[in-house]
Amino acid sequence: MLGRLNHVGIAVRDVKAAAEIYRTAFGAEVCEPVEAPQHGVVALFVTLPNTKIEFIQPLGEASPVAKFLARNPDGGIHHLCYEVPDIIAARDDFIARGARVLGDGEPKVGVGGALALFLHPKDFSGALIEIKQV
Ligand code: CO
Repeated sequence: MLGRLNHVGIAVRDVKAAAEIYRTAFGAEVCEPVEAPQHGVVALFVTLPNTKIEFIQPLGEASPVAKFLARNPDGGIHHLCYEVPDIIAARDDFIARGARVLGDGEPKVGVGGALALFLHPKDFSGALIEIKQV
């Protein structure tokens, strides 16, 4: 039922600095940073042939990424994002299978305009999962 790996999210202190490393070391195609206050992040996507890397840095005091960086001062892999065709059907199916949806359980408009929600890392081998409707 899962679709493609849409992106891997990596938490960093400075998305521009992180992207510049990918640009110079790998010749990667780097987008401009986008502020997403609803998620408490600044996000910057790097496009790869088969997926994307989403660098995220904290935006605001209550950013969940700030807490992640407090535990992981050098940054690190923060989440994996999988595509689904119908996010409500996918969410209800995950809940029926015993997974926990973070927040109020309703999809939010993510960076780039697609609906997304997050699943509890303790239900997925310790990895935070983002589900995106594509
Ligand atoms: Co993401």
